[in-house]
Amino acid sequence: MEKELVNLTRFTLEEQRKHPEATGDFTLILQQIGFAAKIISKEVNKAGLVRILGKTDTFNYHGEQQQKLDVYANEILINSLEYTGKICGMASEEVDDIIPIPSIYSKGKYLVVFDPIDGSSNIDVNISIGTIFGIYKRKSSASGNITQKDFLNRGKDIVAAGYIIYGSSTMFVYTTGNGVNGFTLDPSVGEFLLSHPNLRIPEYGNIYSVNEANSPYWDDKINQYIDFLKKYSERKYTLRYIGSLVSDFHRNLLKGGVFLYPADINRPNGKLRLVYEVNPMAFIMRQVGGMATDGKQDILEILPESLHQTTPLIMGSEFEVKKYLEFVNN
Ligand code: AHG
Ligand code: MN
Ligand code: MN
Repeated sequence: MEKELVNLTRFTLEEQRKHPEATGDFTLILQQIGFAAKIISKEVNKAGLVRILGKTDTFNYHGEQQQKLDVYANEILINSLEYTGKICGMASEEVDDIIPIPSIYSKGKYLVVFDPIDGSSNIDVNISIGTIFGIYKRKSSASGNITQKDFLNRGKDIVAAGYIIYGSSTMFVYTTGNGVNGFTLDPSVGEFLLSHPNLRIPEYGNIYSVNEANSPYWDDKINQYIDFLKKYSERKYTLRYIGSLVSDFHRNLLKGGVFLYPADINRPNGKLRLVYEVNPMAFIMRQVGGMATDGKQDILEILPESLHQTTPLIMGSEFEVKKYLEFVNN
């Protein structure tokens, strides 16, 4: 007999049943993100063929010219989530302010944050890109309107986080705080099937992943760390850098190693965005047994001050991240 197939719907339902107090709200949100992911995946696959390629004439909060796919994926996620009745607002890399729920729909207790397309600069060159999401429970009173402040939570308060990677296959990887599981999209049936149960990152690896063109602008200690990996470590390290956080993260999760986007002279607060990019990934990293830091503190402990704030990020296997901290803090 064929091995039992577990799709995303079954998995989320079985997880829900483990928690008798669960209302199913959460399960529905995850399923809707899975639905949006399939639509985005289909569009990504044909990006080389049709009108969707290329840039729009609009710019996002960070002054980056938006790719058509950024805008498309953003709309798909909003449309898939706003009518569920389970969330009270959203925040996205592509939208300056928070995204309220239209008054025609009822609201729920969850907040969803996302980076609709991560690695946008890779779209036009057929290289893996992704989607990142995080889910929080609203803390303020349910009777009032939500504000930006509702979204300024520490990463450790996340209740679920995940990413979708649009690679040689499309995968949906997520956690609700009880381990991380990966599902691969079978395009012939349009379902995410459990393919990578209970993912763990190796304690150390042999990959370092960083945009080394920025090295002249780093603190010397960071250069010394990278030099250590190259020349003085017992292990022979290799450099792998895709330039899509999701893709670099996914590879390092499976193989072990470290990803860095540290501060530099031009970007004293790093490049990656805390609320909807870094926190969900750091939450997943913690769940698979790895670490994420800004060099001073655990990423998950940072209290964000604004929706689009950036942070330095060093994350990956415990050995390489601890070694980084030894270098920069001595
Ligand atoms: P986004 O496409 O959502 O703006 O994110 C791009 C990010 C991230 O995916 C990646 O790790 C990093 O930018 C790459 O930056 P550099 O091109 O500066 O290396
Ligand atoms: Mn991104
Ligand atoms: Mn993006």
